Amino acid sequence: MSTPPKGKLALPELLAMKQRGEKIVMVTAYDAPGARFAEDAGVEIILVGDTAAMVVLGYEGTTVPVTMDEMLFLTRTVARSARHPIVVGDMPFGSFQVSDEKALENAIRFVKEAGADAIKLEGAGPMASRVKTIVDAGIAVMGHVGLTPQSATKLGGFKTQGKTAEAAAAVVEGALALEDAGAFAVVLEAVPAPVAAEVTRRLTVPTIGIGAGRDTDGQVLFYHDLLGLSEGHLPRFVKRYASLSREIRDALEHYAEEVRDGTFPGDEHIYAMAEEELELFRSSISPSATRANAQAKEPTMSASKSLSPAPESEPPVRKTSSP
Ligand code: KIV
Repeated sequence: MSTPPKGKLALPELLAMKQRGEKIVMVTAYDAPGARFAEDAGVEIILVGDTAAMVVLGYEGTTVPVTMDEMLFLTRTVARSARHPIVVGDMPFGSFQVSDEKALENAIRFVKEAGADAIKLEGAGPMASRVKTIVDAGIAVMGHVGLTPQSATKLGGFKTQGKTAEAAAAVVEGALALEDAGAFAVVLEAVPAPVAAEVTRRLTVPTIGIGAGRDTDGQVLFYHDLLGLSEGHLPRFVKRYASLSREIRDALEHYAEEVRDGTFPGDEHIYAMAEEELELFRSSISPSATRANAQAKEPTMSASKSLSPAPESEPPVRKTSSP
């Protein structure tokens, strides 16, 4: 593989952070401004999650419909803007389940066409061989166990996973299998805190938790949730750090009100013109040149007639420089 671009956080640094006991910060982002904000905040990893289906593309309660092309488009916009954080492209449902070969082909598209630094895919079991195939081809892979939203229907909905002893053991097994397959990190979603702590203790590579307690090596939250851009029911694991949807609604209502009552645009938003140019302009057009005037006087006159050029005796309109 190629060397990472200058300034890019090197992947092994994540492992070093785990070893030093430093927390890894990951956040989702789906566009260029989000990527820039995340970079400026100093996050280590930006995930272009397939949650884009819900938070950006308007699908309700499912990540399944988002396509490879849509994910590549979003990942490309993020990768273009995030110089330091590691950008992880999330492989959408259907892009990796069919076979190792298909998974590798699509992982390559994320790196080659979208500029992702790494990819993430959901699940363990048969998915461990997908991870191995992709890693063997030289692409860094992040694993994801616990609640895997692409299989939410099979899991009985968006529910906490690993709540029985047997299910908890399966989460641990899954995470270990992904590490053995070569994953550089594993996301643990919606699992009891003690289970996540056990996985974190057993894995050499970092764990990134979402709804997995505080003993994981890092945390991830959805951009829209933490900024208060999403509305409706929120999972227990979300903490809001701002209420931007309220601010956006207020701002849009204020704008609409000011357009309607004429307060906007104010003098400071208006382009002026030199007085002599304005006079030239006014004298160069016929007095009846407004359509409303022209039509009131001559209701049958066509638009082309009402806009006919000024008589030759009148001075031509001079070009003004653009703003
Ligand atoms: O798609 C996504 O945003 C995710 C997070 C839960 C990690 O997979």
